[in-house]
Amino acid sequence: MITQQDVMEVLKTVKDPELGRSLVDLGMIRTVEVEGDKVKVVVALTIAGCPMKKRIVEDVRNAVKTLGVREVEVELTTMTPEEKEKIFGPKAKQVKEKKALKDVRHIIAVASGKGGVGKTTVAVNLAVALSKKGYKVGILDADIYGPNVHILMGLEGEKPFSRDQKLIPVERWGIKVMSFGFLAPEGQPIIWRGPLIHRALSDLAEVVDWGVLDFLVIDLPPGTGDAPLTVAQEFPLRGVVVVTTPQRLSIADVSRSINMFNELGTRIIGIVENMAYLKAGDQEIPVFGEGGGEKLAHELRVPFLGKIPLDPEISKSGDIGKPAALNPETPVGKIYAEIADKVVDKALEYEKLGSCGLKRV
Ligand SMILES: Nc1ncnc2c1ncn2[C@@H]1O[C@H](COP(=O)(O)OP(=O)(O)OP(=O)(O)O)[C@@H](O)[C@H]1O
Ligand SMILES: [Mg+2]
Repeated sequence: MITQQDVMEVLKTVKDPELGRSLVDLGMIRTVEVEGDKVKVVVALTIAGCPMKKRIVEDVRNAVKTLGVREVEVELTTMTPEEKEKIFGPKAKQVKEKKALKDVRHIIAVASGKGGVGKTTVAVNLAVALSKKGYKVGILDADIYGPNVHILMGLEGEKPFSRDQKLIPVERWGIKVMSFGFLAPEGQPIIWRGPLIHRALSDLAEVVDWGVLDFLVIDLPPGTGDAPLTVAQEFPLRGVVVVTTPQRLSIADVSRSINMFNELGTRIIGIVENMAYLKAGDQEIPVFGEGGGEKLAHELRVPFLGKIPLDPEISKSGDIGKPAALNPETPVGKIYAEIADKVVDKALEYEKLGSCGLKRV
């Protein structure tokens, strides 16, 4: 005899495809009725017409069927605003419309769980590759501890100017650049504490005049601390690009980072594997192990955006402030261009999906 309890137990294994948490934990299972070998489950979606609903229905049906049930009926309904607030917390309401960002179409953060994996290098080259494709692009350095986007963009010593109480980004190769590095005295560390980080970043979201942009790329500091958290809460992100290297250690950190964004209801654009191999003639030597990022993307059911080789040209071009992606004809330039294409595709797909399943509803 199958009980309601048995059904709830198997439903604990069914995750919301976007939030990565179990439907049971999310309070999305309204009722379960068992009648002999027939089961009816009512699932409350975050919004009606959610494009993910087909998959949720399938997953629920398949899970319940493992109990040997003959017939599974899945009915859909929608959560009340109160129910949503219970799950996502009052924070869900706090993502304010930022006037300064209203003409920015896609905001994409570049994150990683671990330091030094090449986030900033990927962020800058992604911005350049997008700009080379004809998009209007801005890049914001949100790494308040060690800002270096301005260095990679060849803008050391530059300062943004202000107009009508707004900060005007510095432009380079048609890309608008804003970095804490412009604001801090050269060579001096900035010591920020939690609440100040939050203030600084949320002020920055309001105060920079980006104008009309197709893409704003945000370079995050590593980890899951205050800064990535604040960015995900204060900027209406289209999604996050997560950078990893192939080592297992780095990969454990990436899973943590992805989980954090999942919990915050921010979509993952995909994983980039940096320093994936060393090219020697025609050979690709996997210095740090092979295919870790791709495997992880598969496991976590997020897109894989591509592999970037460990290439002295990449670090050299960073040092001299001329990102490798400026030349889309070189092998490395081509790789960045392909990654940019995938980012564009995903951004458009997520734009179409709207806030379905996410807390920004
Ligand atoms: N694919 C690559 N090939 C060679 N060198 C690279 C590559 N990617 C990044 N680097 C170099 O590795 C170093 C670290 O890169 P980067 O600053 O982009 O990492 P990060 O993840 O942003 O670091 P942090 O966590 O400190 O912000 C830099 O010197 C950079 O030039
Ligand atoms: Mg960095």
